[in-house]
Amino acid sequence: MNVKNYVHFKFLSLPENVSFARSCVGAFASQLDCTLDEIEEIKLVVSEAVSNSIIHGYDNRTDQQIEIIVSILDNRTLEILIEDHGKGIKDVKQALEPTFSSDPARMGLGFTFMKSFMDEIDIRTEPGAGTVVRLKRSFPAHDQKNYA
Ligand SMILES: Nc1ncnc2c1ncn2[C@@H]1O[C@H](COP(=O)(O)OP(=O)(O)OP(=O)(O)O)[C@@H](O)[C@H]1O
Ligand SMILES: [Mg+2]
Repeated sequence: MNVKNYVHFKFLSLPENVSFARSCVGAFASQLDCTLDEIEEIKLVVSEAVSNSIIHGYDNRTDQQIEIIVSILDNRTLEILIEDHGKGIKDVKQALEPTFSSDPARMGLGFTFMKSFMDEIDIRTEPGAGTVVRLKRSFPAHDQKNYA
């Protein structure tokens, strides 16, 4: 994979940083050949993953760190890594099930949105150490843009 561009940023686990992170990744993704609706989908999955880190990973503690690395691979693939050093996920298979939530007040749909809007989702997690969610989605290659 050829990395054409990337942005790497780190921020505090404050709820107001959810919108910062989603706008930041949305702005970066707009250099790809994607529609405004697709940008909205990218922004949504970023909010879901960052909210999960704050709410579940850090139990709403606001003094922790979240890191995002967003890259463009081979001119056409967006890869987003969202990393926290929170409590981790005990059972990933169960966490990925639609409507599963460890909090009865929540819908349990965050991972379902991530799965449906992205081509690939990969979760690395360790109880007590944290979680990295890797999301990938491909768009038409730049050099094919004018011929599509
Ligand atoms: N970063 C994380 N750290 C620890 N646990 C997580 C993390 N992300 C997800 N989880 C666990 O996975 C479950 C499923 O996450 P998902 O986003 O699908 O649903 P939810 O956050 O519970 O509800 P919703 O996203 O609809 O508000 C969560 O309830 C939580 O137990
Ligand atoms: Mg969620």
